Amino acid sequence: MTKNALVTGASRGIGRAVALRLAADGAVVAVHHGGNEVAAKETVALIENAGGRAFPVAARFGEPGAVDRLAETVASAFGDGLDILVNNAGISSHSSIGELSEEELDRLLAVNVKTPMLVIQRLLPLLNDGGRIVTVGSMATRIAVPSQIGYTVSKAAVEALAPTLANELGHRGITVNTVAPGPIRTDMTEPMLAIPEAAAGLVAMTALGRIGEPEDVAEVVGFLAGPGGRWVTGLTVDVSGGTFLGPIAGGPSAGDVH
Ligand SMILES: NC(=O)c1ccc[n+]([C@@H]2O[C@H](COP(=O)([O-])OP(=O)(O)OC[C@H]3O[C@@H](n4cnc5c(N)ncnc54)[C@H](OP(=O)(O)O)[C@@H]3O)[C@@H](O)[C@H]2O)c1
Repeated sequence: MTKNALVTGASRGIGRAVALRLAADGAVVAVHHGGNEVAAKETVALIENAGGRAFPVAARFGEPGAVDRLAETVASAFGDGLDILVNNAGISSHSSIGELSEEELDRLLAVNVKTPMLVIQRLLPLLNDGGRIVTVGSMATRIAVPSQIGYTVSKAAVEALAPTLANELGHRGITVNTVAPGPIRTDMTEPMLAIPEAAAGLVAMTALGRIGEPEDVAEVVGFLAGPGGRWVTGLTVDVSGGTFLGPIAGGPSAGDVH
């Protein structure tokens, strides 16, 4: 039976790769974006050109009513329920504890924590038995990067959703997991990766010796969202190519890892 999927932040980066992967696996994908309609339509076109089915959905997270509008659109599009919910949309931050303003912290928590939690809450009535929830966290939560403290705290908070929800929803066959990427080549990391020393430092920190690509994350989300992931729940899955597993000979100093 065809699965229905929502991927938030699917206009670009990791979310786009996840949307393409789920569509390739046969899902009809709601391609959410926060305002970049052109990019969302590109994602939809890529899916359709590959023989899949998708449609764009706009909602600017952090604005009043955004989650309700998203939930209403998704509910009316998917009359037979939702099967896969991927909470991917997120924002980063480059402020140390001394620099982080209250407004920036509020925004980080609103977009990276409150929104995915409310998206799950509002869409739970629509989620079919056997469904899947995957949230995109970050491996930043297991290392100390002073310039990312607000971002790290937001990702640590959202990671806490999976075990509790997995326990609550398991009796319906619904799995709930977090994926925790390391540095991935997207618009979010583009400014940092444009600095050759920073990029080389990140590569040197990674056991597998390169910067991750969005598809590296999408493969894992696809697995968790697919039939093979049925017995995996409540987990955070590190998808970082082995970033910062320990000292590497000639290794770098820690930069931003997102
Ligand atoms: N890149 C990395 O190295 C890395 C590492 C670990 C974790 N992550 C996490 O992975 C996720 C995706 O990251 P990415 O690198 O693919 O990001 P990206 O290239 O910056 O894309 C962000 C996506 O989220 C959407 N978005 C951003 N703010 C939004 C808002 N306020 N309301 C609605 N949608 C919003 C964007 O929509 P528009 O196109 O409409 O703006 C876009 O689709 C994030 O949660 C990020 O924290 C990334």
